[in-house]
Amino acid sequence: MINTLKSAATALVPEVQALRHELHQHPEIRFEEHWTSDRIAQFLTENGIPHTRGHAKGTGIMATIEGTPGKTVALRADMDALEIEEQTGLPYASTIPDRMHACGHDGHSSMLCGAAKLLWQQRDQLAGTVNCIFQPAEEIAAGGRFIVEEGLLDNVDAAFALHCWPGLPCGDVAIGTGPVMASADFFRITVQGKGGHGANPGAAIDPIVVASHIITALQSIVSREIDPWSAVVVSVTRMTAGFASNVIPDTAVMEGTFRALSPESRNHTMDAITRIATNVAQAFRASAQVEMEGAGYPVLINDTAMGKFAQAAATAAFGAEHVQPVTHPYMTAEDFAYYLQKVPGAFIFLGNDAPNTVDPPSLHSPRFIFNDDALAVGMETLASVAVDFLVDRHAIS
Ligand code: NI
Repeated sequence: MINTLKSAATALVPEVQALRHELHQHPEIRFEEHWTSDRIAQFLTENGIPHTRGHAKGTGIMATIEGTPGKTVALRADMDALEIEEQTGLPYASTIPDRMHACGHDGHSSMLCGAAKLLWQQRDQLAGTVNCIFQPAEEIAAGGRFIVEEGLLDNVDAAFALHCWPGLPCGDVAIGTGPVMASADFFRITVQGKGGHGANPGAAIDPIVVASHIITALQSIVSREIDPWSAVVVSVTRMTAGFASNVIPDTAVMEGTFRALSPESRNHTMDAITRIATNVAQAFRASAQVEMEGAGYPVLINDTAMGKFAQAAATAAFGAEHVQPVTHPYMTAEDFAYYLQKVPGAFIFLGNDAPNTVDPPSLHSPRFIFNDDALAVGMETLASVAVDFLVDRHAIS
């Protein structure tokens, strides 16, 4: 079936590219993907592909392609955009102010539509079931958690997803085993001091000085508490305090994020931020309240066997010269991590750079452009891992 998948994917490119440009013009952020959800559902309906709607707080869609009885594999694409004003100048640029598909999710959703169509066309040869999950709210809100909590993976044997990746040549994929992206958590520290006259600090407890000591002390988590081979990042990214140059304020608020590559390092860092902030504040006669925002994103861990399987499936499809290793995990995060906590699977990086590209705009850049030359490779990757998984091709011992 592999050669048929390649030619079928190539034949679908014009249709999928047109769909991608439509989605790009209508970017919608977390849980607001109503137009996007309707358009994807329209594509599935027009092609006769069965699907259910209303998942993950409303905008999620799951298409189900059933072949002969067998295993079930899930393929996932994210649907949401970002709060960014687009600066690409593309003819099909965003039509919505302050909204942009700057992370390629328009490409991911379009490619999964294409993969669903070609699997549907060849369903007579499919040795099991493929569930194509169109998931809202990958950015910030961890929509993937709701997919798992709603039970969409309860009868699934493996799950795969891909993400376009600047810095990787178009036509290549990169697949790793073990941790491939970090956990992501977000914190807020509120330092309560005692306000007063800027000229009379002895009568006050200055929360800005306390906050400064906390920021400095937080640097010791990575340098002095975490094993050097277990990467962690702690970044204070926002600090707000005060309102006048001659007034010591009552409070100072810091916000930031921390990333880790193992659940143990993640838990240690979470505890350490609270311990250091509260105790440093106490040492300076102030107090600090530490809040962790949301549920955070777990570490994205590719199952070893499924990572090797996906490498083998991609090698069979594209040749070994187009399948790269993941040389190191990234400190960005992905809510596909929730899927891989539930079922084995792998997250695949899809090359997106045109030839001779130097310093491509990063994901989340207002100048990021998804390269349509990756569409056929992405569709074939998704379809290949599904088809090959269902027939136990490339069995990994
Ligand atoms: Ni993304």
